[in-house]
Amino acid sequence: MDTRTMDSVVSPSNRTYWNPDVDSDLLCVDVHQETHDVKTFTFVSDEGKHIAFSAGQYFAFDIETRDELETRCYSVSSSPLRTNAISITVKRVPGGTVSSWLHDNLAPGARMRASGPLGRFIRPAVANQKYLFLSGGSGITPVMSMARELGDAALPVDVIFLHAGRTPKDLVFREELSNLATRLKGFRLYFLPEDLSGEKSWSGLSGRISRELFQLIAPDLSQRVVMCCGPAPFMAAARKISAELGVPVENYIEESFDAAVIDDATLPLIEVVRNETFNVEFSKQGRTIEVGADQTVLSSAKKAGVKMPSSCSSGLCGTCKSKLASGMVDMKHSGGIRQREIDSGFFLPCCSKPLSDLVIER
Ligand code: FES
Repeated sequence: MDTRTMDSVVSPSNRTYWNPDVDSDLLCVDVHQETHDVKTFTFVSDEGKHIAFSAGQYFAFDIETRDELETRCYSVSSSPLRTNAISITVKRVPGGTVSSWLHDNLAPGARMRASGPLGRFIRPAVANQKYLFLSGGSGITPVMSMARELGDAALPVDVIFLHAGRTPKDLVFREELSNLATRLKGFRLYFLPEDLSGEKSWSGLSGRISRELFQLIAPDLSQRVVMCCGPAPFMAAARKISAELGVPVENYIEESFDAAVIDDATLPLIEVVRNETFNVEFSKQGRTIEVGADQTVLSSAKKAGVKMPSSCSSGLCGTCKSKLASGMVDMKHSGGIRQREIDSGFFLPCCSKPLSDLVIER
């Protein structure tokens, strides 16, 4: 009997590790074209440190496009057992400035700032656990990291991996996953293209996820932990079908930046007057809006049509990170910003309420 565990596979050593509180500089060392519109970018620590993370986690990257500093979160697609480097896999989104910039400009030798690892989309560490990994489109990245981890660890597994894409040529990591399914016992793989155009012959499944499909590939679904990442409608369908087929709610886990819960017990030490409003100036856009003391800066900015990047809206991902040129806020974040960034005047508008008039460099 194989008595090893995932912990025993990761051997402790005298390596120097990336410290999320201090380190932020990554060096791009490789760019690889995965499909016609997906590239993988591989990074090492600028100082040669190993980067520890859990499969399923992501990093928030500061990306300087032509005239904006944007923050975007990308799940790591590489194996957490290979800590010398991390890879992210990015689909070029039509009209998307950041993904297009990465595809067109990021090359080996470039340096980027990133914070992480972040996120809680992590497999429960339970012995002999059976899984259904479900991914749609570029949502494959965190579950690919999990699959690669299992492949590297060579431990016994019971995993069904279903990856859905638009057409066969959109299926990311098709060859690597097929090889993994050949060599890793207990790892069953299904591709699910929605449309078969461009493929001469296809003997596998096609269409969309459905109750019948889940019953076919995973008759024991109710005993499995479902790890799901993909577009919102894909996850909504997967969640509904999983529940109908008896997966307990705690065994259905999806990648969602809305997962953070702001704990009301940690509300401000400073009592604010609830009906007070403050002037909040966005210096680069030349806009000033009024924000109530009980409203977050992001929600008011959105209502007023002020441009501000955001994702989780709960202080977790770091996407909305902005420079506060003047004023005071009450910020209740969930790990999306580091202390040294706060010390340098940055804040997260999605989880910050004004305590005075503000000037924000946006
Ligand atoms: S939008 Fe995620 S931290 Fe603000």
